Amino acid sequence: MANSVASHTPLRIAVVGLGNVGASFAFALLQRRLAAEIVLIDANHKKAEGEAMDLNHAVPFGAATRIWAGEYADCRGAAVTVITAGAAQRPGETRLQLLDRNLAIFQQIVPEVVKHNPDGLLLIATNPVDIISYASYKISGLPAHRVLGSGTILDTARFRYLLGQHFSVDARSVHGLILGEHGDTEVPIWSLANIAGIRLREYCRLHSLPYDEHVFDTIFTDTRDAAYKIIERKGATYYAVAVGLMQIVESIVRDQKTVLTTSTLVEGAYGINDVYLSLPTIVGAKGVVQVLTPDLSEEELAKLQHSAEVLKGMIEGHLP
Ligand code: LAC
Repeated sequence: MANSVASHTPLRIAVVGLGNVGASFAFALLQRRLAAEIVLIDANHKKAEGEAMDLNHAVPFGAATRIWAGEYADCRGAAVTVITAGAAQRPGETRLQLLDRNLAIFQQIVPEVVKHNPDGLLLIATNPVDIISYASYKISGLPAHRVLGSGTILDTARFRYLLGQHFSVDARSVHGLILGEHGDTEVPIWSLANIAGIRLREYCRLHSLPYDEHVFDTIFTDTRDAAYKIIERKGATYYAVAVGLMQIVESIVRDQKTVLTTSTLVEGAYGINDVYLSLPTIVGAKGVVQVLTPDLSEEELAKLQHSAEVLKGMIEGHLP
């Protein structure tokens, strides 16, 4: 029988920017055994080479993955190009203060990626991620469903973790949403928060626990301000956001249709238009499959619309 070798394109993921987040993401991706090929691209090519060498030495312990330091041309055929390049927050600096520096970097990077890979997806992690994602959508000319930002996936994870700690429940059984800006105007959706489907107020009643608004306010401020506190202590955040990026990529490459609070283009939901921010999003092979618009309380809706206004104000002031 003739040898029939299946001819298929090995799954390739490109990583642009090999700072803490990019390198941690590449490591998480390798550990998850998601990609057959991981190409690392950085303005500092030696850094990318060093990361590739270090990661390749992990291959004998696990995944047969081809990892190399490449150029933009190596983005060709990548299912997803994850861009983490740019300046990170300094202690006390807001994400929005990074905008002009990182916008200039993206105006260089995005055209190079799309020139070599017009058919792939872009996943943006660089802050301020909602505005940089919107700018990447505009600069790339790609359809919006193929340009996503990490958005509030990390904030939602922090929110779930802190609620799990408070109620002594596995965070994976706690379901909550942080929507809007990945930043100071993000919005906790208390009206939908639940433990195994049991809304928090009912859960407290069932377990004779106080539904203490002050405790919940603290849980939210600890969620919103977590990055500042971590940066103050260790200079940057990277592990959790790297795993969050890996979860988005996994839902894309395996067409899992996981609901994630990624940053995506909003076109009319909640009366919001022409801005990237985080809403519950079904993520699959095409990227954004569907944006979900659950009913929100009046207060939550007003805060979400405020978040959108802050982001649109920054866009109008900084994007051509
Ligand atoms: C943080 C960065 C990724 O929230 O914005 O840790």
